[in-house]
Amino acid sequence: MLLRLPALLSWGLRCGSAAAPQRLVLKRKFSGGMEEEAKRKAGYMAVDNHVQNNQALGIGSGSTIVYAVNRIAKRVRDENLKIVCVPTSFQARQLILQHQLTLSDLDRHPELDVAIDGADEVDSDLNLIKGGGGCLTQEKIVAGCAKEFIVVADYRKDSKSLGEKWKRGVPIEVIPMAYVPVTKAIAAKFGGAAELRMAANKAGPVVTDNGNFILDWKFNNISDWKNVNVSIKMIPGVVETGLFIDMAERVYFGLEDGSVCFRDRHSH
Ligand SMILES: *[C@@H]1O[C@H](CO)[C@@H](O)[C@H](O)[C@H]1NC(C)=O
Ligand SMILES: *[C@@H]1O[C@H](CO)[C@@H](O)[C@H](O)[C@H]1NC(C)=O
Repeated sequence: MLLRLPALLSWGLRCGSAAAPQRLVLKRKFSGGMEEEAKRKAGYMAVDNHVQNNQALGIGSGSTIVYAVNRIAKRVRDENLKIVCVPTSFQARQLILQHQLTLSDLDRHPELDVAIDGADEVDSDLNLIKGGGGCLTQEKIVAGCAKEFIVVADYRKDSKSLGEKWKRGVPIEVIPMAYVPVTKAIAAKFGGAAELRMAANKAGPVVTDNGNFILDWKFNNISDWKNVNVSIKMIPGVVETGLFIDMAERVYFGLEDGSVCFRDRHSH
C-alpha cells in the first residue's frame, strides 16, 4: 500500500497501540514545550517520509501543520523540489504563500498525491475527529482527493476510542438556517447534545470559511462510527461532519520523549 516510501521510513517506530497512552499520561506533569517539540518532530517525519519531487500536496490546517509546511519549504529550497500545494483553509493558504510555495487548487489539481493534516483525536482504528479549528469541510474534500492521507499529531491526541481525550465533541458544519432542526435531529437519533459554536472575540456564532455555522456534538456511548458518519450527513442542512472514518492511511504521533511513532490503518 505504501510502496513509494523512501528508506527513511525506518526512522519511525511503530506505536504500541493501547499501552502507550497509559504510560504517557503518567508523565504529563513534566511536559512544558514538549508538545510543540512533539508536533514539530511528527510534522518533519511525515514530510520526509511522504513528500517527493513532482507531487501535488494537500496542506491541512492547525498548529501541527505549521511545522510540516516549514519542512516542505526547506526541502523545496534545498532539494529544488517541484511541488504544488492545495490549501484546506484560509490559514493553510497563508502558510503556503508565506513560505513561497506554489499555491494551487482542486480545479487545476483534483488528484493529489498526498494530503497532510492534523487531527483533534485519533482512535485505535485511525478514525479521526477533526474540525476544532472549523475547517473540516475543506479538509475532508482535500483529504478525499489524495491518494494518501497522512495525519500528524502529538501524543495528547492518541485515544483508544473517540471521546476519550477530546471532550469538545464532533464538529458539524451546518447551513445557518438549519442549525436548530439539525441540533434536534442529532439528539433524537443519537443522544448527546449539539451546541452552536460561539465566537470568542465577536458577539454571535463562529462563521466558517464557507459562511456556515458549526455545531459541536457532545456524544455519549457511540461505537458504530460508520453508521453515525453516514446518518448525520443525511440530515438536511448538514454540510459536513468532522468524523474522518477509514480515511487516514497513517498517523504520526510525536511523543513526549522526543521520538515519533506511527500507526497504519491496516496494521492491526
Ligand atoms: C452503550 O451502547 C451499547 C450498544 O450500542 C449498549 O449495549 C450499552 O448498553 C450502552 N451503554 C450505556 C451505558 O448506555
Ligand atoms: C462517511 O460518510 C461519507 C459521506 O458523508 C461517505 O462518503 C463515506 O464513505 C463514509 N465513510 C464510511 C467509512 O462509511
